[in-house]
Amino acid sequence: MNSHEHPLPQLGINIDHIATLRQLRGTPYPDLVEAARLSVAGGAEQITIHLREDRRHIHDADVRDIRAALGKSIPARLNLEMAATDEMLKIARKTKPEWACLVPEKRQEVTTEGGLALEKNEKRIRKILDGLKKSGIRVSLFIEPTAKAVKLSRAWGADAVELHTGKYCIETQRKDASTPKGRKRVENQLRRIEDAARAGQGILVHAGHGFDYENVRPVAALADGGMPLIREYNIGHAVVCRAALVGLERAVREMKSAILAP
Ligand code: PXP
Repeated sequence: MNSHEHPLPQLGINIDHIATLRQLRGTPYPDLVEAARLSVAGGAEQITIHLREDRRHIHDADVRDIRAALGKSIPARLNLEMAATDEMLKIARKTKPEWACLVPEKRQEVTTEGGLALEKNEKRIRKILDGLKKSGIRVSLFIEPTAKAVKLSRAWGADAVELHTGKYCIETQRKDASTPKGRKRVENQLRRIEDAARAGQGILVHAGHGFDYENVRPVAALADGGMPLIREYNIGHAVVCRAALVGLERAVREMKSAILAP
């Protein structure tokens, strides 16, 4: 089911960090298709992966394997995050994800820092956006939470925007977040997200980057006439970190048993 057909916000789980764990050692595990299956078993409607130009976590073979499973043995859609380049357009056309999310990409960054500079890169972004849409792929643009960027994305024919929530999330995680000054900074960032989301008539509004189990709640509570303003979340790091803790006891028990009962 697609996000605009569903009254409740939907969840995409970004499994890049599972691939990062694998790449730290170059091991054949953890299995990304299994990670996708478990994410969907937990309630995710979508699997999100970012095939970066430098292939630092997700590899081309992962994209193929995950695509082959989603919509078949795993009931969920694929959201391919990608830079607006001809190379990625070619891969997306072959892969046919249900959604593509165009993101800015810099080689040196640890993670995506900021939304697309739409006006500066208009020609390139619109070329890739149109190319994706011609192939029947729905497109979201990862943007800073401003009304201007939302309106421009709609004018260019994007199906959705994904609001970059990183600045808000950083403010919520600062040590002084609960002081009056800190609370004000969090509130200002939350209002930016709300104002941008309210400018989203005629385009779907998604959100992602930096969410944890607490700071997602005030955003998810933003509503208009009982309808949530944000229709889809793409979340990765906090979920993978939580999984490492809630899964650790069982993982240790299985290793102990492998040693004691070889
Ligand atoms: N959405 C986009 C466009 C991203 O680039 C990322 C990070 O890869 C996410 C969502 C997920 O962010 P996080 O891992 O901080 O939850």
